[in-house]
Amino acid sequence: MNMIMPDVIKQMKARSEPITLLTAYGYPMARIFDDVGIDIILVGDSVANTELGLESTKYMTMDEMIHHAKAVSRAVRKSLLVGDMPFESYQKDISKAAANAKRFINEAGCGAVKVEWFKYCPEVVRDILDSGIAVMGHIGLTPQTADELGGLKVQGKDVDAANKIIEQAVVLSGLGVFSLVLECVPDVLAKIITETVDIPTIGIGAGPYCDGQALVSYDMLGITRPRKPKFVKQYADIYSQIENAARNYKDEVKRRVFPDREHMYTMNPEEALKLRQSKSKG
Ligand code: KIV
Repeated sequence: MNMIMPDVIKQMKARSEPITLLTAYGYPMARIFDDVGIDIILVGDSVANTELGLESTKYMTMDEMIHHAKAVSRAVRKSLLVGDMPFESYQKDISKAAANAKRFINEAGCGAVKVEWFKYCPEVVRDILDSGIAVMGHIGLTPQTADELGGLKVQGKDVDAANKIIEQAVVLSGLGVFSLVLECVPDVLAKIITETVDIPTIGIGAGPYCDGQALVSYDMLGITRPRKPKFVKQYADIYSQIENAARNYKDEVKRRVFPDREHMYTMNPEEALKLRQSKSKG
């Protein structure tokens, strides 16, 4: 089975077929998401927070993103694999954007890259598209530049702010991005954008009117335990399961219950006796 192409994601909007996106940062989870038929697997720079314990996605490097993207890529057979361009790969020096996007494709086997809106986003998107690489845009709350947006907060809450985000959507879709992530915006704004552009909108904290939905896998699986945003629906409580397992393991080792005979290797008794005798002679 081949990887879903960006054009197929575009066609899903025309067919009114909801699009699913989950983030993955390593092989095992990506394998499961691909097997269940998640349409898009994003190697998100949210790996900074979820896996690496960093305060901001802004600190992710290109080399670190490639390392994770390669691991995810080994698992992906069907889903569209999207590499999330880290801040340093295009916002620090826009002339490096296309070359860095190419690394996601050539080194990690991604089918597209994602870039967040910032001042020079249109120039960057144009360069990457000109190099033949499909681009997913990301507007609304853009964590890489959250400092300029007043923090990790809902965006587009008044008419002026909402109009700016609509404008960004129109610019990016006009340039030819194949889809748009809308993060943390009111449902009415997401609806207007979804009806305005002919490419799919994929919401995360953007309500039900988008063409697709995204979630950070670690949030929806309940792997980490920081305060989760209102929009996150938790479909599992993996944190508690890991906590219980670790407690039970500790308890059994301390009480010398583990390992038991079922979880160990034994030697033929004759050989064991010979071994002991040879050691006691010496
Ligand atoms: O990095 C990430 O997880 C993302 C999602 C919010 C879509 O960009």
